Amino acid sequence: MKRIATVSAALVVLSAVAIAAVSPAPAEPRLVLTPRSGPEPRINGARVFGVRPGSPFLFTIPATGERPMTFGVENLPEGLMLDTATGRITGSLPGPGVYTVTFTAANARGTASRPFKIVCGPVLALTPHMGWNSWYVWENRVSDAIMRAAADAMVSSGLIDHGYQYVNIDDCWSVRPDAADPGRRGEPRDARGLINSNSYFPDMKDMTGYIHARGLKAGIYTSPGPRTCAGYTAAAGHEELDVRRFVEWGFDFLKYDWCSYGDQADETVLDDLQKPYRLISGILAAQPRDIVLNICQYGLGNVWEWGRGVGGNSWRTAGDLGHDVVGNLFRDGFDVYTRNELHRYGGPGGWNDPDYLLIGILSSAFVTDREGSNEASPLSPNEQYTHVSLWSLVAAPLIFSGDITRLDDFTLGLLANDDIIEVDQDPLGRPGRRVAKDGALEVWMRELEDGSKAVGLFNRGPALASVTAKWSDLGLDGPQRVRDLWRSKDLGVFDGSFEAYVARHGVVMIRLRPLNGR
Ligand code: GAL
Repeated sequence: MKRIATVSAALVVLSAVAIAAVSPAPAEPRLVLTPRSGPEPRINGARVFGVRPGSPFLFTIPATGERPMTFGVENLPEGLMLDTATGRITGSLPGPGVYTVTFTAANARGTASRPFKIVCGPVLALTPHMGWNSWYVWENRVSDAIMRAAADAMVSSGLIDHGYQYVNIDDCWSVRPDAADPGRRGEPRDARGLINSNSYFPDMKDMTGYIHARGLKAGIYTSPGPRTCAGYTAAAGHEELDVRRFVEWGFDFLKYDWCSYGDQADETVLDDLQKPYRLISGILAAQPRDIVLNICQYGLGNVWEWGRGVGGNSWRTAGDLGHDVVGNLFRDGFDVYTRNELHRYGGPGGWNDPDYLLIGILSSAFVTDREGSNEASPLSPNEQYTHVSLWSLVAAPLIFSGDITRLDDFTLGLLANDDIIEVDQDPLGRPGRRVAKDGALEVWMRELEDGSKAVGLFNRGPALASVTAKWSDLGLDGPQRVRDLWRSKDLGVFDGSFEAYVARHGVVMIRLRPLNGR
């Protein structure tokens, strides 16, 4: 039985006659496909979490549904405590171990429960990071107030309830002696050599406390060279002191760039490329706090082959997605990934990072090359669905870098689809790959822990087209239950193949479960 589903990311249901008449791209409506979360409780996000023995533990159970909600955890190991009103788990675990617990979330509409695994050991980031980063909307205008507002927005928008966790400052928090803005100038370090934040960050510790008090985690950025990419004070020669400062300040995540280190390194020599990351990860590993390490050197020396070996929990696989977002989405997201077979490298503890989610409202510098204002992402609505779908299929970090305080329903729908997030956060952690290509039409597949498969039907071409996912390309045999992930809707049973009309630069994301399987 083969059925043709008339679905596309643009939610246009078209007859074959209408399709033939469609030529170049029509203006695209910003259709919200993600259904609104219901009032009943639902537990979302990751199903596994890594923590090191003795480190402060913080995990907020992500759950949508009407408040008030009462949280529970069955079999919570000794050393950990649950705040039943917020779902925050804190404390610390004394020694290594794997704990299978059950989360519950109850409200006036009912109770949800879900198993969860806490893995206490050396490995962090057992699923790709989820959060927000300041760079693409705030660049060199970032401040303490902006970071606090971002933490507030992560809660008030509900993103925290879908598993978003990290609130990360990018470049421009330290001092730049020659900054145009006097508020960003000053002494780079104090008399003890400790790095200073600039006047827009008067109290880092208080700021991370504010972020933690909302059940979230805080991230910071620096570079192994003397200067960051934007010319601010960085770590060269002060690595140990700077990490200790980040620990004192209460950070949970470090993005370690490359800029200005290139002046002292030979970028063709592997050892030169690896040295700064070995050094910093060694220092991080000795701290009494878990700090996830994000390596940002744009893929130099095939970093995916050794990023995990030098202690990285993720590594940028290409240059910045910004400036030419549309072109880079396809080049870096699809082609760099496929050419280098990046699916062979990512997995629990170390992820390929094709850069941030550039949707919503961004800094105009990245959209139109004009400094100082904000504009909508240059990606069309369908390209935005393509962007988030691809990221979830390749197990990329879901770090949104648009304005989190100004989320419209469309952008929120892109970020907060639990079916899509579930693919990204799948505990098996096996990144997907392209399994078929026919000109501009591509089929991508990701194997999931429960034996099901997530599949993306992509149309990189200039007009609506029919894309077919063949069971033979997906390694499937027999009838499959098919679910449309963006609409969170079961489509029925299909055998042999699944075909959908996909909009220009758009996608249809499905999940396939064997009819007689789990
Ligand atoms: C780039 C990096 C960006 C951003 C920027 C800050 O090297 O790729 O993500 O961090 O530096 O100056």
